[in-house]
Amino acid sequence: MSVLIKNGQVINPATGLNAVMDLYIEDNKVVEINASITKDADEVIDANGKIVVPGFVDLHVHLREPGFEQKETIETGTLAAVAGGVTTVACMPNTNPAIHSKEVVKLIQEKAKLSGKAKVEVVGAITIDILGNKISPIEELLESGIIGLSDDGRTTPDESIMKKAFEYLKSKDLPLMAHTEDMTLARGGCMNEGERSKALGLKGIPNAAESNIVKRDIELCKEMDSRLHICHVSAAESMDHIIEAKKEGVKVTVEICPHHFILTDDIVNADDAYSKVNPPLRSKKDVEKMIEAIKAGHIDCIVTDHAPHEEKTKKVGYPQAAFGISGIETSFALSYTYLVENNHISLMKLIEMMSYNPAQIIKKSVGNINEGEIADIAIIDLNASYTIDSNKFYSKGKNTPFNGYEVKGVVTHTLVDGKVVYRR
Ligand code: DOR
Repeated sequence: MSVLIKNGQVINPATGLNAVMDLYIEDNKVVEINASITKDADEVIDANGKIVVPGFVDLHVHLREPGFEQKETIETGTLAAVAGGVTTVACMPNTNPAIHSKEVVKLIQEKAKLSGKAKVEVVGAITIDILGNKISPIEELLESGIIGLSDDGRTTPDESIMKKAFEYLKSKDLPLMAHTEDMTLARGGCMNEGERSKALGLKGIPNAAESNIVKRDIELCKEMDSRLHICHVSAAESMDHIIEAKKEGVKVTVEICPHHFILTDDIVNADDAYSKVNPPLRSKKDVEKMIEAIKAGHIDCIVTDHAPHEEKTKKVGYPQAAFGISGIETSFALSYTYLVENNHISLMKLIEMMSYNPAQIIKKSVGNINEGEIADIAIIDLNASYTIDSNKFYSKGKNTPFNGYEVKGVVTHTLVDGKVVYRR
């Protein structure tokens, strides 16, 4: 199987390439990148006027399988992924059963092979059932090929368990992907604590619920000389701790979701839980801090925390509604529109934050368009704009606060291992 992509603007952060080029792909690899390639190919794609970039790597995705197939499946979640230009996802372990044994890892890997459109990497649970009290069989999880450990959705309160997890991960140079939330401070909260929560009479979650645990986890990581990846940063104080730790040389990386650098808690309405997410949408001051941190290069990657939920779990009143935003199909367009079009960062930097950097964090040799490299590629029309409408999502989760937003950047083709798996 061969594919020739003609006349696209190839952008590759790993090498700094940013030029109109042809790209020849054979089987699963990029064979040649040149100004003009005249070889015959099974398929020729005209990418004139479009960008050709490494497929995105989303380190924070809830595929919900096994156990919550009414919300999403590996098939629907990865179809949504490739529609968003995402070619590798790391799936979070808060499934049922949780990803706390080699059997569950294997099940996901096998299902992904059968029905996955994108590549699926697996994040193992730090503790059994993500309950925080009994450590998972981490050695067997590592042997079965997980790319990191997390109790995402919760913080692991027990420091001795955290230290053991750090120790195991150190042997493989893989990250502990920390959901940072002090439950004693966050308990019962459903939105950011501030003026808006007061006005709405809803219980707030303070910034300190996040930043206290960010600080704790940085200390633990430092002590264990291991690797920490902070999930979905949202609070200004967390960012301060992370910047400080990076300066000190602690091996910490950090991800951010589009909703945390675009939206503030001003949009929260008690009768619409599509804005309910954990960590919550924060204040203007926090969002400004996030933008500053992105501009300064302190934030390593953009992820989605793609958290699909069925309608009824969002329609039970704000306090009771499920936390989460379905985000994998809108991530690039939102990030491009709000970060690049608003001149906060360059297009090259955005592509780096969505492909090369996250691939490096989980030590996968993707996120790089180069001769001899795997052909995981997205082709995107930056001149095309559209209005977000979650009824058109491939994901089962229609829960997004971005409905009606005008964005730029339409994914027209996605290739995984050299095969076109999505075309608009
Ligand atoms: O909003 C969220 N939803 N945050 C999390 O940490 C978990 C996620 C989910 O699983 O729905």
